[in-house]
Amino acid sequence: MECSWKTVLLLVCASLGVQYTAIRTLRDSLSGPCQGAYRCSTRHLKDSRWRSLCDDGWTVEFPRKHILLFATTRSGSSFTGQLLNQHPQVFYVFEPLFHVQQAFTNSSSRLRRSLDRRALLGAYRDLLLNLFTCDLHFMENYIRPEPQDHLTNSFFRRSSSHALCSPPVCSEEGDADLPDEAWCPKKCAALNLTLASMSCLSRGHVAIKTVRVPEVGDLRTLTEDPRLDLKIIHLVRDPRAVLASRMMAFSDQFRAWKIWNATGRQPRYVDLSQITSTCKDMTASAETGLQRLAWLRGRYMPVRYEDLAFNPEKKAAEIYRFVGLTMEDRVRTWIEKNTKSNVSSSTSEWNHRYSTRRNSRATAESWRLGLSFDIVRTVQTLCNDTLALLGYKQVQSAAELRNLSHTLVENMTFETLT
Ligand SMILES: *[C@@H]1O[C@H](CO)[C@@H](O)[C@H](O)[C@H]1NC(C)=O
Ligand SMILES: *[C@@H]1O[C@H](CO)[C@@H](O)[C@H](O)[C@H]1NC(C)=O
Ligand SMILES: *[C@@H]1O[C@H](CO)[C@@H](O)[C@H](O)[C@H]1NC(C)=O
Ligand SMILES: *[C@@H]1O[C@H](CO)[C@@H](O)[C@H](O)[C@H]1NC(C)=O
Ligand SMILES: *[C@@H]1O[C@H](CO)[C@@H](O)[C@H](O)[C@H]1NC(C)=O
Ligand SMILES: *[C@@H]1O[C@H](CO)[C@@H](O)[C@H](O)[C@H]1NC(C)=O
Ligand SMILES: *[C@@H]1O[C@H](CO)[C@@H](O)[C@H](O)[C@H]1NC(C)=O
Repeated sequence: MECSWKTVLLLVCASLGVQYTAIRTLRDSLSGPCQGAYRCSTRHLKDSRWRSLCDDGWTVEFPRKHILLFATTRSGSSFTGQLLNQHPQVFYVFEPLFHVQQAFTNSSSRLRRSLDRRALLGAYRDLLLNLFTCDLHFMENYIRPEPQDHLTNSFFRRSSSHALCSPPVCSEEGDADLPDEAWCPKKCAALNLTLASMSCLSRGHVAIKTVRVPEVGDLRTLTEDPRLDLKIIHLVRDPRAVLASRMMAFSDQFRAWKIWNATGRQPRYVDLSQITSTCKDMTASAETGLQRLAWLRGRYMPVRYEDLAFNPEKKAAEIYRFVGLTMEDRVRTWIEKNTKSNVSSSTSEWNHRYSTRRNSRATAESWRLGLSFDIVRTVQTLCNDTLALLGYKQVQSAAELRNLSHTLVENMTFETLT
């Protein structure tokens, strides 16, 4: 029974595919019916959702998943992105909007003056749409220096993407025990964006991490685009932890804060606006996301980084359920390896700024031992609404702050329609 309809479907798709590739460009053929054939001929037959899509053949919604990891700087998004990057059918891109921002920031002052927020967000969305449909050539508009013959050495954080560090994109294959960051920049030749597009097509699903879109409402046109089946994972983190992490990672930019932290006295020139707007955006997005708006229905999942760090297997499974993919063994193995290692042994290994290999619980809480109470109190005042909405408790004393047996993360389940 099952075999016969499968065979018929494959034959139908194969013949349609021949016609399609003849009349369509590479990019357009992505949404042709043989995308379904690719899926239907693989293991997804067992899954009831896929089966109904496959039975339907033509008139289906597009079965590719488009996952946006929507986050803010230093909120644990590198770690969370890796959970998606490890899936063998996911083509993962780490912050492609970096290039757009660079290009606009560096453009002539006349253009810069005329560039308003809407135009920049429009450029962000255009790039996301093109990447979600596997057109990596679109990146060439923004990458500097400009790629020649579709080749570039300047793709931002290429080695955070497993697909860009493995065959056919890279001729070398990494050692399974090493993170790609440790070898990919040395061993892989210049990135061929045509090959990268093809790798994206063959993987089936696309996941993109960004920290540059301010609010989830800015993504509305993407959620409504019929070419995409967008799932937004909104990663949030305790703003006190976000600040502490930024102070460590970007110490030049946070010099005044470091002085405050070390002396206990607030310098007059300390800039409170960045953390304030981070909190404002986080709250605005969560409020939009939890309002059950029609255009976000089934497409929005808020994730607190702390929940993921305290219970990685369970939370990762929930994320995979939400995006509609199976959590492959490779993902489980990665979690095992990267959330339980001893802090002391991990620091000697790959101690770069975006390292994800460490004890996830200890890392999520370490800010409580490294931030002066005075700063914590100030952030609590600036971000009180955000803390309340997302279930982070305020502390009233330094003793309460440093007492790690006293949790500051309240139990919370976010009710969203999925
Ligand atoms: C920005 O422009 C300057 C001067 O034209 C150039 O030297 C620099 O490489 C550019 N930077 C980027 C990121 O494009
Ligand atoms: C990039 O890859 C494509 C597809 O394999 C190939 O046709 C092209 O020659 C490559 N470009 C360069 C400059 O090697
Ligand atoms: C972590 O440390 C403990 C005690 O110091 C040791 O027994 C254990 O083997 C270490 N685990 C790893 C993965 O290094
Ligand atoms: C704040 O100061 C303490 C000690 O004075 C130090 O251990 C900690 O690393 C500092 N925190 C940051 C985020 O710089
Ligand atoms: C946060 O602080 C503002 C100003 O003090 C206050 O109006 C608001 O009610 C507070 N929000 C919460 C949730 O406590
Ligand atoms: C630390 O917090 C725990 C749990 O709230 C509490 O039982 C304990 O008394 C606190 N310890 C100190 C030294 O305050
Ligand atoms: C929160 O959840 C944890 C784990 O499920 C449980 O042990 C704890 O008792 C809960 N706390 C509250 C206040 O409900």
